[in-house]
Amino acid sequence: MSKEFDVVLIGAGPGGYIAAIRAAQLGKSVACIEKWKNPAGALKLGGTCLNVGCIPSKVLLASSEEFENASKHLADHGISVSDVKLDVSKMLARKDGIVEKMTKGIEFLFRKNKITWLKGHGKFTGKNAAGVQIEVSGEDETEVVTAKNVIIATGSKARHLPNIPVDNKIVADNEGALSFDAVPKRLAVIGAGVIGLELGSVWRRLGADVTVLEALPQFLGAADEALAKEVAKQFKKQGLDIHLGVKIGEVKASDKGVSIAYTDNAGNAQTLEADRLIVSIGRVPNTDNLGLGSIGLKANERGFIDVDDHCATSVPGVYAIGDVVRGPMLAHKAEDEGVAVAEIIDGQKPHIDYNCVPWVIYTEPEIAWVGKTEQQLKAEGREIKTGQFPMMANGRALGICRAEGFVKMIADAKTDEILGVHVIAADASDLIAEAVVAMEFKAASEDIGRICHPHPSLSEVMREAALAVDKRALNM
Ligand code: FAD
Ligand code: NAI
Repeated sequence: MSKEFDVVLIGAGPGGYIAAIRAAQLGKSVACIEKWKNPAGALKLGGTCLNVGCIPSKVLLASSEEFENASKHLADHGISVSDVKLDVSKMLARKDGIVEKMTKGIEFLFRKNKITWLKGHGKFTGKNAAGVQIEVSGEDETEVVTAKNVIIATGSKARHLPNIPVDNKIVADNEGALSFDAVPKRLAVIGAGVIGLELGSVWRRLGADVTVLEALPQFLGAADEALAKEVAKQFKKQGLDIHLGVKIGEVKASDKGVSIAYTDNAGNAQTLEADRLIVSIGRVPNTDNLGLGSIGLKANERGFIDVDDHCATSVPGVYAIGDVVRGPMLAHKAEDEGVAVAEIIDGQKPHIDYNCVPWVIYTEPEIAWVGKTEQQLKAEGREIKTGQFPMMANGRALGICRAEGFVKMIADAKTDEILGVHVIAADASDLIAEAVVAMEFKAASEDIGRICHPHPSLSEVMREAALAVDKRALNM
């Protein structure tokens, strides 16, 4: 007889492992199928986020920021350091150590919550009155388990360019770009999206000449235009060379480097020579060899699994969350969907407001937003008012030498409800949390304007932006 569980997760990324923990907290018997292996061949929990995504990229962003501060910015404080040296292998080892600690932490949480880790590839084989059958192909054996409820949390993988093989040495996706064994002198990046900007920044700070080639004519099209303009200005100042509106042609790679033929936005043929290339042109959902057909499901034309507002597929008891379904490919979105589905299975009625899912790009300054952009709201015909306040006028920002950027708040012209907040500033990832809470509670800009904020702190800029919506910023 096959093992039976109330809930089986396929995938232990932030969507799957969080859903597993929440389901276990609610008293369900839970198993999680995961096949991820690290470069040393060890099976690991945590998915893209912990192994080759959020965590390692933020570790390298932090290390490279320290290096750049020591090399360039400490002098502004009157501190001189000389002979700043970089040990790339030590930097990578620190990153790997943090990844190891975090993934081991999830193993601990699985044991604590009595979640069974089924090691191997999960594939649906059918369904009957007892539930859905899933075959787990491990290293040594294959077993079939039955689940009353299944949550597909198989995540995504890097999209590659056709005919340009990724070896993760010369031509890299996110995995290779987080593990270059030396700083490339010339680094090319295809795609000026989130990964291109974050990992391009890492290697630029460490000394690479970075050129980014982007297909779209507009920079950071999803962001508010004022924000995107300021970001472009800051990156240009930092020396990140971004070319928009290009069309990539033939890419030739050898052991020595890479040559990228492209047409620039004026229609001229160009060639970019580089030592290494990062391909960061988006991600594709993981639905290969999942056996979806055996339970009457199939991936849609873009490879995603279709779900309703509550992450339910068309098959009763089968849900899908995270990168494998519609919506932003973000770890916190995957986590929130995981919690919500575990609670739905428990008979609760949770709700996710996707308009309140924040975005953060962890460059310096950081970029963060929640809600709608001014352009989206105008296109919808909404009457709005906006307030903007510069970091430059904030004492704390000046004190920490991080006076670039601003907070922009958009509110409804009549009701004053906050509709969007857009931040480019140091610690924007933390600053945006206040705006998320405010929007979840349908706050007005006046509410933030009336709330006491600590002084001196960067958060005062959020309050000043709120006051600026009513044209009464105090320090400007
Ligand atoms: P994943 O994390 O992709 O996990 C899916 C898991 O399912 C994998 O472990 C996979 O091995 C497993 N799996 C797949 N198929 C099967 C199968 N058939 N059987 C068994 N197991 C299977 N997001 C943020 O919010 N903030 C960030 O700062 C951030 N930084 C990022 C940086 C990089 C470089 C990258 C690449 C991504 C980043 N992301 C970030 C995005 C974030 O990593 C994803 O949105 C998130 O990991 C999605 O979670 P998930 O659980 O849906 O899938
Ligand atoms: P992305 O979707 O953010 O950006 C891809 C970029 O590549 C786009 O600007 C696109 O126009 C461009 N592009 C596509 N095809 C191209 C081509 N042929 N030539 C030139 N440019 C091309 O995708 P990215 O950067 O790969 O990241 C994937 C996802 O991972 C992100 O969308 C995000 O959801 C997640 N992520 C989140 C992070 C965060 O929250 N801080 C950090 C890193 C990734």
